[in-house]
Amino acid sequence: MAIIAPSILSADFANLARDIRDMEKNGADWVHVDVMDGNFVPNISIGIPVVKALRPVTGLPLDVHLMIDRPIRYVEEFVKAGADWLTVHLEADLPQNILACLEKIRSLGCKAALSLKPQTPAEAAIPYLTKCDMILVMTVEPGFGGQKFMADMMPKVRALRQMLEECNPACLIEVDGGVDGETCRVCKESGAQVLVAGSAYFRAADRAAFVKTVQA
Ligand code: DX5
Ligand code: ZN
Repeated sequence: MAIIAPSILSADFANLARDIRDMEKNGADWVHVDVMDGNFVPNISIGIPVVKALRPVTGLPLDVHLMIDRPIRYVEEFVKAGADWLTVHLEADLPQNILACLEKIRSLGCKAALSLKPQTPAEAAIPYLTKCDMILVMTVEPGFGGQKFMADMMPKVRALRQMLEECNPACLIEVDGGVDGETCRVCKESGAQVLVAGSAYFRAADRAAFVKTVQA
């Protein structure tokens, strides 16, 4: 069964606690939290105080996706705020700093994940594969919800799954962007085990049924 992580980016920001409790009732597995700094991506969303405020709202794991430059500056604060999974972007700093960042996340007792923008090839992740608990393959350009799913990222998911089987089989693959009741199928077939869904989850007439479709 796949793991579904609805993204709060499409939630009602004035009612985040309500929407997250509702995710839990609807059978969601994780809560995906998109953090944007206006530099790494051309949008600003939420940060550490919001993660901290949401922590007591739910027992679900908080899957925090950092779309910020030089994330090493902030990982400790995000872990302290309550992140269970912390994802940094491969493109957000020099390789040695990204490696140090993943190590730091793990040393703080948090699961470490590395994200690849659409232009970044699977091979670029090779130096990091054994340092991660999850690889996030972006299926849209990071920055905004509601974009069209990039099916041409599926070969990248397959390639990463194959590489991981060799060196780190327990490492999960997550996809994020444009995942809906249709596109979730090819993601799972390609080897993705964690599926983020923002707009498709929130626009679903029956959110519990949508969750089941993505998990199936
Ligand atoms: C995009 C974010 C996504 C976003 C997905 O930069 O990382 O998590 O919320 O939204 P949808 O599912 O609407 O594409
Ligand atoms: Zn995300």
